Amino acid sequence: RIIHLADYRPTDFVLERVDLTFELDPEATKVEARLIFHRREGTDPAAPLVLDGDELTLSGLLFDQMEMARERYTATPDTLVVRDLPESSPFELTITTVINPQANSQLMGLYRSSGIYCTQCEAEGFRRITYFPDRPDVLAPYTVTIIADKAANPLLLSNGNYLGGGNFDEGRHFAAWFDPHPKPAYLFALVAGDLGVVEDKFTTMSGREVALKIYVEHGKEPRAAYAMDALKRSMKWDEEVFGREYDLDIFMIVAVSDFNMGAMENKGLNVFNDKYVLADPETATDADYANIEAIIAHEYFHNWTGNRITCRDWFQLCLKEGLTVFRDHEFSADQRSRPVKRIAEVRHLRSEQFPEDAGPLAHPVRPDKYREINNFYTTTVYEKGSEVTRMIATILGRDLFKKGMDLYFERHDGEAATVEDFVRCFEAASGRDLGQFSLWYNQAGTPHVSVAAAYDAAGKTLTLEIGQTVPPTPGQADKKPMHIPLDLALVLEDGTIAAPTSVEGAEMTGSVLHLKEARHKVIFTGIPSRPALSLNRSFSAPVVVRYDQKPADLALIARHETDLFSRWQAITDLALPALKDAARAARKGEAIQIDVTFADALLAVAADPALEPAFRAQALTLPSEADIARELGGDNDPDAIHAGREAVLTAIARTGAETFGSLYDTMTPDGGYSPDAASAGRRALRNAALLYRTIAADTPALAAEAFAKADNMTDLAQALTVLAHRFPEAPETHAALAAFEARFAENALVIDKWFQIQATIPGDGALARVMRLKGNRHFNENNPNRVRSLVGAFVFSNPTGFNRADGAGYRFLSEEILRIDAKNPQLAARLLTSMRSWRQLEPARAELARTALVRVEREVLSNDVRDIVDRTLKG
Ligand code: ARG
Ligand code: ZN
Repeated sequence: RIIHLADYRPTDFVLERVDLTFELDPEATKVEARLIFHRREGTDPAAPLVLDGDELTLSGLLFDQMEMARERYTATPDTLVVRDLPESSPFELTITTVINPQANSQLMGLYRSSGIYCTQCEAEGFRRITYFPDRPDVLAPYTVTIIADKAANPLLLSNGNYLGGGNFDEGRHFAAWFDPHPKPAYLFALVAGDLGVVEDKFTTMSGREVALKIYVEHGKEPRAAYAMDALKRSMKWDEEVFGREYDLDIFMIVAVSDFNMGAMENKGLNVFNDKYVLADPETATDADYANIEAIIAHEYFHNWTGNRITCRDWFQLCLKEGLTVFRDHEFSADQRSRPVKRIAEVRHLRSEQFPEDAGPLAHPVRPDKYREINNFYTTTVYEKGSEVTRMIATILGRDLFKKGMDLYFERHDGEAATVEDFVRCFEAASGRDLGQFSLWYNQAGTPHVSVAAAYDAAGKTLTLEIGQTVPPTPGQADKKPMHIPLDLALVLEDGTIAAPTSVEGAEMTGSVLHLKEARHKVIFTGIPSRPALSLNRSFSAPVVVRYDQKPADLALIARHETDLFSRWQAITDLALPALKDAARAARKGEAIQIDVTFADALLAVAADPALEPAFRAQALTLPSEADIARELGGDNDPDAIHAGREAVLTAIARTGAETFGSLYDTMTPDGGYSPDAASAGRRALRNAALLYRTIAADTPALAAEAFAKADNMTDLAQALTVLAHRFPEAPETHAALAAFEARFAENALVIDKWFQIQATIPGDGALARVMRLKGNRHFNENNPNRVRSLVGAFVFSNPTGFNRADGAGYRFLSEEILRIDAKNPQLAARLLTSMRSWRQLEPARAELARTALVRVEREVLSNDVRDIVDRTLKG
């Protein structure tokens, strides 16, 4: 069944209040839902009330406290239909269901794992708890009473403020919670069990005191300190930058170890994958710290963008996700280094979202149809959605963007809104027409912007011919031209930026050119000499720019641009031709020749003490094999791409030997470990140097020494990665892997790193290694983090291993999908998206990939996987 945006209509009944009582039991939890409804004015007085369910059985139904006549309702596992309801007066339904949290392996709805009861209701999990109008435009205040065995569940949590609790018969106790803020069911949460807590408090800008609590497994409290610090910084930042204050007496976070996603913004009670809460220097990398900070912020920011203002329907998912990702990006940029953060965002967008947008699973930021909404929690909705918000900020400028956001909060607080509502606020605040701009929400595919430049020395004019095209995507053959805000600079030979006396052919505000037509001829006058063109500065638009840039111009930009993102981009663009040529040569079986002149700019940046180390480390990190595959654009042979990239790395390692030696010696920590961004940058630069030095020396000695000396997880994991990926069979590697496993055997999150490092060892041996690791005592096929760290890492992050020429990797994936699907369809569907670029493979591999997909299509059971496999094969 396909759901269409165009079919949206409001419910026939308005939900006034929700009162839930849970009697928790591992296998038979009784849920009593008292719901007060009235018929919406103007709707058919005979219309029945239709509630959603999912694998439910009804065990009782009362109408205004009286047994409901059997002929007035029909219950199936997925609906409850109630007829003959009052024309206008409110009425109360009391629905009783009995559910089995222990048997809930989908991890949607109420489930129990490691002795903890917890819920995940977004998008449509609440209907696995009770029959309900389970859609985001049905908002109500909730009262929740939880009754449970006190010894096993001293902690009973739900949304809102704590009302009270007490003891009950037979060793049981209860707690009651009231959430005054009307919310849709997807924001409901319940947690019960025995957990440790870290407590703190925050005083809001209006002087209210909020209790902060982070619940973790007993003994792990010290590892929640960084998350707590990040939470307080997030609360402060949202007040200062967006004027948003927290609105309950308490804010709680619970870390659980079995979780399908990263985290969930349930009102006042965020539930997190513990991977994004727990950290200490011994067990967490710098990347883990940065992720924790970003995700804590993301979920906290949802309190306003998502909860206070929610989505009318799931088509509007980007309204909360794209906006909230934009907010967490801005937060991290303010807390850390803005340019380095921007580079990381763009790398992520290009490696994850661009392939999605160019393949069979492409969809608009706001889709107009879906078969399974869980499959639309994508990088397109999240990250491209964030870029679209960022473009609004770029087009309007900081002050008008702020004015538009203020208006959005003012107009829509307490509502379930749409993308149109959001855009209208910026139009009203700025007086600008964002009609054409809104195509970004509706047209899928990454726009291509092509540029040709001609400089006329006599007239001192620069003429740019700029064209844009948006490639066809499934269901969208023809595209209209988009409003693309292209930030650019004309960099003169002396490194200064030219200030044109006039610009014709397109509107320009500040340094941003507004492309709105399929072609523009833009003339800049008063340009004293031929400039180098720095295009799409700070990545002002999520587009692919095609411009035949001269290496000398790129080197000039790499040296002088004031926009650091563009300097990094220029270095990347200098390296790309070498990477592509090397891959092509390897594909033809020719000897790989590398002209290393491109490396000069890269090494100059790496050695420049005026630049921050984190930025220099980014410059040393070449485009990934997936990035190169995308640049090659089809008929791809992952082995050739790998061989080509290795040859380029080796050339850089040799040319820059001196630089890497001195970086390795000087970028040492001063004092003990600190997770701050500056220290992390030094470690990143030193670890990049370790990699290049190891490549040049071609022995495991240096990495083995680094492994032995590491006093933090960042250095330890990097040393282990270099050892395992470069010398998988060396005795040093076997010893290091064994030592790591023994040392961290009790820490599941660190063991995940151990699986992941081994699952991503390149080459034909990877599959056998992964199969062997599946038998390791630490592997647990019911834990999503474990599955992602082994199977997920192999299929997403091991291009040569997964794309083995004999197709064994694809066959392995199809078997894994079918087995995982039987337990956890969401996890299986997510893993299968690793096949999204199968058509870009060379014909023999593509055919083997197709065969594996066809097998999944034939045997699959869940709607989740069926949706992905059908689209992957068809598109
Ligand atoms: N809203 C959550 C977040 O982004 C993620 C929920 C994911 N849900 C899903 N069904 N995949 O913070
Ligand atoms: Zn989110």
